[in-house]
Amino acid sequence: MNRKLPAVLLGAAMAFVLAACGSGSGGSGGDDGKITLGFSQVGSESGWREANTKSIKESAQTAGIDLKFSDAQQKQENQIATIRSYIQQKVDVIAFSPVVVTGWDAVLKEAQAAKIPVVLTDRAVDSDPSLYVSFLGSDFVKEGEAIGDWTLNEYKDATAPVNIVQLEGTVGSAPAIDRKKGFESKIASNPNLKVIASQSGDFTRADGKEVMTAILKANPKIDLLFAHNDDMGIGAIQAIEEAGKKPGADIKIVTIDAVHDGMQALADGKINFIAECSPLLGDQLMDIVKKIKAGQPVEKRIITEETTFTQQQASEALPNRKY
Ligand code: AHR
Repeated sequence: MNRKLPAVLLGAAMAFVLAACGSGSGGSGGDDGKITLGFSQVGSESGWREANTKSIKESAQTAGIDLKFSDAQQKQENQIATIRSYIQQKVDVIAFSPVVVTGWDAVLKEAQAAKIPVVLTDRAVDSDPSLYVSFLGSDFVKEGEAIGDWTLNEYKDATAPVNIVQLEGTVGSAPAIDRKKGFESKIASNPNLKVIASQSGDFTRADGKEVMTAILKANPKIDLLFAHNDDMGIGAIQAIEEAGKKPGADIKIVTIDAVHDGMQALADGKINFIAECSPLLGDQLMDIVKKIKAGQPVEKRIITEETTFTQQQASEALPNRKY
């Protein structure tokens, strides 16, 4: 989903921020001058998510922000209930990483009516952008395109069909939708590249293994696996090994995230290429929160800087990797 936002929205965001800050309603941290941030996390489904949670907690502490944190266990209803409780508690700012794209209008309108600014982190929503102040996170389409570019190059000389399996992320989530779109838009230019199976593994290692086990049984010839995150890729590696095949050789594997275990598998030759998705959003989020409370302008869309890794680059990067 390429959600390009018109520049005028920056003005709209500012107006909302100033209205929220100037309302005199005060946040729950008002008296001691400390800012209170209510954060609703998706869950703890992956190594990426663990690193993201750690980053947010550590950055809040360093910034002196009072953090109220809740894990939604990958359920939208839990996130909506948590956001409503943050509204009731009159926190200064609400931030959340939305598990899926749709279904947020009502609760975002409630936050706006209560004059509590909302910041999206990591994942997008399809609501009107005037309902949140800023969206900090990756360009997931670009990540899928990076995997697509690698695939195009890897199979540029192929004269026979290349059978591709895709393990998709959580159904309806921005990264699953956008990574698939970016990848498939790139490989469409080579008719030999064929996606023969594409199923969700919900971004977890366990589901990645289970889904890949079934796909291996149904498809004797698989050339390439694209897993939407490292954890599903690692689960699939276990399934491939149990099926008596060599991951990285008999079946090439490309993933997204570049968390420690994924990078180790890449350095070990079991994964062939990774597009990075940075979970280190904590410092930028705390900056945004402070600016909002100070009535300063914040950008409507802040895109995380990311790179890609080959096997050689993973071996070199691993010793200094933070997550
Ligand atoms: O939204 C980011 C994605 O969510 C990460 O790629 C994945 O590992 C996580 O679960």
